[in-house]
Amino acid sequence: EKVVLAYSGGLDTSVIIPWLKENYGCEIIAACIDVGQGSELKTVREKALASGAAKVYVEDVKEELVKDYIFPTLKAGAVYEGKYLLGTSFARPLIAKKLVEIAHKEGAKAIAHGATGKGNDQVRFEVSIHALDPSLKIIAPWRIWDLKSREDEIEYAKKKGIPVSVTKDKIYSVDNNMWHISHEGGDLEDPWNEPKSDLYDMIVPPEKAPDVPEYVLIEFKKGIPVKVNEKELKPVEIIEELNKIAGRNGVGIIDIVENRLVGMKSRGVYETPAGTVLYSAHKELEYLVLDKETMRFKDIVAQKYADLVYNGLWFSPLREALDAFVDKTQENVTGIVKLKLYKGNVINAGSKSPYSLYNEEFVTFGEDEVYNQKDAEGFINLFGLPLKIKALMDMNRKDD
Ligand code: ARG
Ligand code: SIN
Repeated sequence: EKVVLAYSGGLDTSVIIPWLKENYGCEIIAACIDVGQGSELKTVREKALASGAAKVYVEDVKEELVKDYIFPTLKAGAVYEGKYLLGTSFARPLIAKKLVEIAHKEGAKAIAHGATGKGNDQVRFEVSIHALDPSLKIIAPWRIWDLKSREDEIEYAKKKGIPVSVTKDKIYSVDNNMWHISHEGGDLEDPWNEPKSDLYDMIVPPEKAPDVPEYVLIEFKKGIPVKVNEKELKPVEIIEELNKIAGRNGVGIIDIVENRLVGMKSRGVYETPAGTVLYSAHKELEYLVLDKETMRFKDIVAQKYADLVYNGLWFSPLREALDAFVDKTQENVTGIVKLKLYKGNVINAGSKSPYSLYNEEFVTFGEDEVYNQKDAEGFINLFGLPLKIKALMDMNRKDD
């Protein structure tokens, strides 16, 4: 029997390897899916083997993450609870998809993951896996075993002869990919505590950012960013480049108390430098090119989209249907946005598009042909009529 394990190289998923072997007598295929988590990957293969895995897959899925998950979410303008740019949420279904592919290749009947029983990630992994292959069994050790703390894990690892590198105390629960880093737990569990300024990995704390603003130009084609500072870049490079530019200007810190799907509120501090700039630029362009009613309706769609992604329903018919709507709205979202980044702030500094609906001649107070000021009188009479009628009725009632 083979089991595919979502493997990160960290202590949690390393301990799962001997635990699965002991409790299920199975062969472990460790799958490390590279979503841009960076350096941790270098030693992951040896680590998995040293921990007892029979085989290791390391798969780079960064391009797929950006093209098929990040860009659709950006185009939708999806933001969870007004703040969270969904960095962990949309990576989970992609990881699940790769785990299922590997399970099929290996003829494995089960998939194991290291998410805890109290979070969103377990839901995202399992709902996605079963949306793609309902016959696969799922093993979630955190919901079963009696290792209750990091100390328990280290003790178990030592007993099983597994290498543990307890370099620095793991204070926070961290999830890392090319779009964001999330920090939860530790002193952040008290929402009164400001994040310590050495918490950040991608972002220079705003107070330490340069004293002069930095301008950045972002060009979009049909809602998708294609150029940064007039240079054409591949999707992955766009994010990498903007992470650097925004990060050095203190841009992209998101601090939120959010509602988890599984019921409780939790506090998270997220670093999303490129994402913050891209969402902002994309929105500026939409202000210019979208008609009012489409814009209004798109906001409703954005909220629904964010809930779907957050709640692990990526592989749902509704998400695909919403994508079709969003793509229609993006046909004219082509143009250039200029932003000023300054000590954590993103300030609009200009936008232009060949499809702009903004017309200086129409909005100016001088004479023009489409707008007759005399029309305004009748419009205001009818527009305000319900309030006028109510006021008249109220007056009449007071009379008797
Ligand atoms: N709270 C965020 C979310 O639900 C981040 C979760 C981070 N996950 C983790 N395993 N550290 O999407
Ligand atoms: C976890 O429980 O594995 C992390 C937090 C979350 O999934 O929300």
